[in-house]
Amino acid sequence: VLESLKGVGRGRLQIAVASTVNYFAPRLLAVFQQRYPGIGLRLDVTNRETLVQLLESNSVDLVLMGVPPKGIDVESEVFMENPLVVIAPPDHPLAVERRIPMPRLAEEVFVMREPGSGTRQAMERFFSEHGLTIRHGMQMTRNEAVKQAVRSGLGLSVVSLHTIELELETRRLVTLEVEGFPDLRQWHLVYRRGKRLSPVARAFRNFVIAEAATIAAPTLFRRENP
Ligand code: PGA
Repeated sequence: VLESLKGVGRGRLQIAVASTVNYFAPRLLAVFQQRYPGIGLRLDVTNRETLVQLLESNSVDLVLMGVPPKGIDVESEVFMENPLVVIAPPDHPLAVERRIPMPRLAEEVFVMREPGSGTRQAMERFFSEHGLTIRHGMQMTRNEAVKQAVRSGLGLSVVSLHTIELELETRRLVTLEVEGFPDLRQWHLVYRRGKRLSPVARAFRNFVIAEAATIAAPTLFRRENP
């Protein structure tokens, strides 16, 4: 720890995270800030498309996101699992069913994130990999809007388990037991290859790789997979 403290001092750290990562990033930052109280932190929260632009223009230290971008020379490291789940309102007929066959999803309407969203890309990939067509319902640019829409009966959706911890606890939403889900993806820490990380950025990178999964894994998931 002393070794890594060297040079961190009053450094500044600028990170950008996917809007889905925002559900746990502040928890990480709180622990990190306790360890290095002198540092200045700036957190940008945005979707995948904008994160890729930030990496392209080299305007942040580190990015936390789903799938690292292709076509830009980046270093990327996995730091935690990202389970994607199908969500529904608690009174949905499928909520009580077990082992729902995947093709059954093709009969449902799905609330979609915007095209620049990594969650949406993952969802589209899942459907196309399994030869299913998504029936698009409304499109919304925020996880919060998607969750409210699903809760109001506008359709199902596929979201990161990290975004719905509170709703599962209070049973405002349920996850459906569909074959193939949770679709286990991974969170990546990404930065430009060859970028000289500042001491504070390096300390944050080490911290995320070593401890993020312990601090921020979704509690419900932890219970299912002890
Ligand atoms: P997004 O985040 O859906 O907010 O873009 C997820 C990701 O980066 O994969």
